[in-house]
Amino acid sequence: MSQQELLTVEGLSVTYYGPPDVEAVHEASFDVRRGEIFGLAGESGCGKTTLIAALTRLLPDNGAVTAGRIMFAGADWLKLPPSEVDAWRWRKISLVSQSAMNSLNPVISVGEQIVDAILAHQPQTSKREAWDRARALLRMVEVDPKHVHSYAHELSGGMRQRAMIAMALALEPDLVVMDEPTTALDVVVQAQIIHQVRTLQEQLGFSVIFVTHDMSLLLSIADRIAIMYAGEIVEVGSRERLNREAAHPYTRGLIESFPSVFERKSRVGIPGAPPSMVTPPPGCRFHLRCPARLTMCDTVVPEERVLDAAGHRVRCHLYDSVEAIGQNGRN
Ligand SMILES: Nc1ncnc2c1ncn2[C@@H]1O[C@H](COP(=O)(O)OP(=O)(O)OP(=O)(O)O)[C@@H](O)[C@H]1O
Ligand SMILES: [Mg+2]
Repeated sequence: MSQQELLTVEGLSVTYYGPPDVEAVHEASFDVRRGEIFGLAGESGCGKTTLIAALTRLLPDNGAVTAGRIMFAGADWLKLPPSEVDAWRWRKISLVSQSAMNSLNPVISVGEQIVDAILAHQPQTSKREAWDRARALLRMVEVDPKHVHSYAHELSGGMRQRAMIAMALALEPDLVVMDEPTTALDVVVQAQIIHQVRTLQEQLGFSVIFVTHDMSLLLSIADRIAIMYAGEIVEVGSRERLNREAAHPYTRGLIESFPSVFERKSRVGIPGAPPSMVTPPPGCRFHLRCPARLTMCDTVVPEERVLDAAGHRVRCHLYDSVEAIGQNGRN
């Protein structure tokens, strides 16, 4: 792991124990670099939240990591005892969860919640300082600091979401994980919040994992993007690369199914639905819906291919010859 990487995930698999057992993430590998926005996209049920829950050590009791390794800020993260994970939470890693809209405590003011988080992790801070920080944090996410004394129900959805982001940033973590932080908001507020996150990220230098099913959003804000399908990461590449030449037929379908911010085009959509995660199809998991399907895709699991030196990777038989070319080139 180089200095550049903050988080490295290698071959991560996660199962929820049933019955039925569901392997919601299968052999996922990627890294998140310092100071980047890393986007994670894929249709509902493909395992995004599960992957995030494993990364933040917040899997529910029936979920477990069955394979793989996560290196985070120099630590073998999955081996860290829970007490240390708790100490790292907020300080090194924080989560704005998919249900963030409802995860502010309704009976404590917004300011008190931020102050509590600060005091729990930095007990040397005075109460006065902590309240000043809470106001400054709200200002930073463009919420009027008078709302330190407001309760969640007194805030609009957008303001609640901004308050959650302020809390996530309160202890200046290295990594902020945002699981569909804005999907419940109207598009104008979504865009404002996302641009705010980008600006703060540029000022403060933290890394972000931004989860969404909205590709057009990621293609405008993320530095690099991973695409998940049926529990697997099928493509990882830079925003530029995915904008210009997305490799996986699924990625292309996803991009085409969202209207572009820049041009007017109609939604195409990907026919069919994702497969059951209880019994994923043999071969390539996408073959039943793939417009570019080869005979072998029905039975042979595609290996991951590296398409360029910048780490554009894809899991698709269409690129099987790419590595052969690379090997010939080396010989
Ligand atoms: N606690 C759980 N117990 C059992 N199965 C679960 C649990 N949570 C999720 N799953 C299953 O794991 C799979 C992946 O779900 P997950 O919530 O990670 O997907 P997602 O990509 O975040 O979807 P969405 O876009 O709807 O948020 C699904 O098949 C889901 O039904
Ligand atoms: Mg989810």
